[in-house]
Amino acid sequence: CRFVVLISGRGSNMQTIVNTVQAGHLPATVSAVMANKADAAGLEWAQAHGIPTAVVPHRDYDSREAFDAALAEAIEAYQPHYVLLAGFMRVLTPAFVERFNGRLINIHPSLLPAFPGLHTHQQALAMGVQWHGCTIHFVTPVLDHGPIVAQGMVPVRADDTPDDLAQRVLQVEHRMYADVVGWLAQGRVSLDAMQRVQVSGVA
Ligand code: GRF
Repeated sequence: CRFVVLISGRGSNMQTIVNTVQAGHLPATVSAVMANKADAAGLEWAQAHGIPTAVVPHRDYDSREAFDAALAEAIEAYQPHYVLLAGFMRVLTPAFVERFNGRLINIHPSLLPAFPGLHTHQQALAMGVQWHGCTIHFVTPVLDHGPIVAQGMVPVRADDTPDDLAQRVLQVEHRMYADVVGWLAQGRVSLDAMQRVQVSGVA
């Protein structure tokens, strides 16, 4: 199973994905790590770990459509089975999403459908929720929407700052993405007739 991972910054989720795949127990390869910014810190880490990298700078393109077309070309060169968004901070056009329909996965730092968009930890604290977490889902043209593959939950504590909460959620993000990459590599994830995710072999 070939994966391409898209990042915009630090890339700690990408590192988890690469580490999971390089641990060697999975029939999988991370074919490339790509970013929309040349200064995404994760790119250097990926190179140091022997993963090909590419940058498709969104600022070089006049429109989202043109950027997405260039990004899609760069991805297709690797013929991945799955494209994993891991802290990729660009909204993708419907044309891009359709092109990778059923093969595009995102991680979002909230328990969707609560708190789509940005600043999810602030939103969670402002709302006073007692549980927060992350969601890994298939991407559809609607932002932070789409069939849910896995969710991880953390408690919210009374004195949490957004950073505290982000740290706690990030740990669960890493665990969940490692699990999901394993399921995908083993061909255990499918969509049923209702577009709900089925994972075989998980109770
Ligand atoms: C993660 O919390 C991810 O869910 C969100 O942005 C953060 C990226 O972190 N969209 P990293 O780049 O994977 O370290």
